[in-house]
Amino acid sequence: MASIPRYFFISLLVLHSLLFSFVKCDDEEDNLLKGINSYRASLNLKTLRENDKAKCLADEMADQFKDQPCTNTTGANTVPGTEPQFSDYPKLLSKCKLNVTTTRDGMIMPACVPNLVPDLVLSNFTKSQYSNYLNDTKFSGVGIGSDDNWMVVVLTTSNPEGSFTPDNSSANLVFQLGLISHAVFLLVAFLILL
Ligand SMILES: *[C@@H]1O[C@H](CO)[C@@H](O)[C@H](O)[C@H]1NC(C)=O
Ligand SMILES: *[C@@H]1O[C@H](CO)[C@@H](O)[C@H](O)[C@H]1NC(C)=O
Ligand SMILES: *[C@@H]1O[C@H](CO)[C@@H](O)[C@H](O)[C@H]1NC(C)=O
Ligand SMILES: *[C@@H]1O[C@H](CO)[C@@H](O)[C@H](O)[C@H]1NC(C)=O
Repeated sequence: MASIPRYFFISLLVLHSLLFSFVKCDDEEDNLLKGINSYRASLNLKTLRENDKAKCLADEMADQFKDQPCTNTTGANTVPGTEPQFSDYPKLLSKCKLNVTTTRDGMIMPACVPNLVPDLVLSNFTKSQYSNYLNDTKFSGVGIGSDDNWMVVVLTTSNPEGSFTPDNSSANLVFQLGLISHAVFLLVAFLILL
């Protein structure tokens, strides 16, 4: 019994630090979105609208990148065509209720900047090879995710192949149920451990 208050206290601490880190990330992402849209405005291009599904995928991608250190060959410095391929990319799409059919025209742009210094983050997108995509009229939507030193921008288009329309087909539903039961299992295991 005596141990309950301690667990409660630790949970509160964890919750607090989680909330705190989310708020911090959001600021950096908002700053970048504003910066990118100012850049587009300076080129007389339409403002990119926030897209929830692209945001979900950007978060998932940032989570994959987070343990990789920044080097002169990662992120915005990557030689086009040599970007890292994640074997579980289809799984990441599915987690966000997406599939390749509606995402293949989209663009995923990861950048690695120690401590996500705002000016450097923005220039890693607007003054690198990525500027060729940010100044492209075919893109209309955006989702931004970050984790540790990584910032990921996902661009969506207005045509069906890049619209990031949620996949509600039965194939995806089966996968979602699999993920949910996995999460429930973890939760139960966690409660038992407590
Ligand atoms: C990356 O850094 C390494 C070591 O600092 C250097 O040898 C290499 O030339 C750099 N590559 C590029 C593309 O700048
Ligand atoms: C991108 O960020 C790195 C830090 O990781 C910085 O050294 C570099 O100058 C930035 N590149 C651009 C084009 O701003
Ligand atoms: C976009 O940027 C690239 C490289 O900076 C440039 O070559 C191209 O002309 C630009 N396109 C538009 C529409 O501004
Ligand atoms: C992908 O999702 C779209 C939108 O819901 C759907 O029309 C399409 O059939 C799905 N494609 C595959 C291969 O499941």
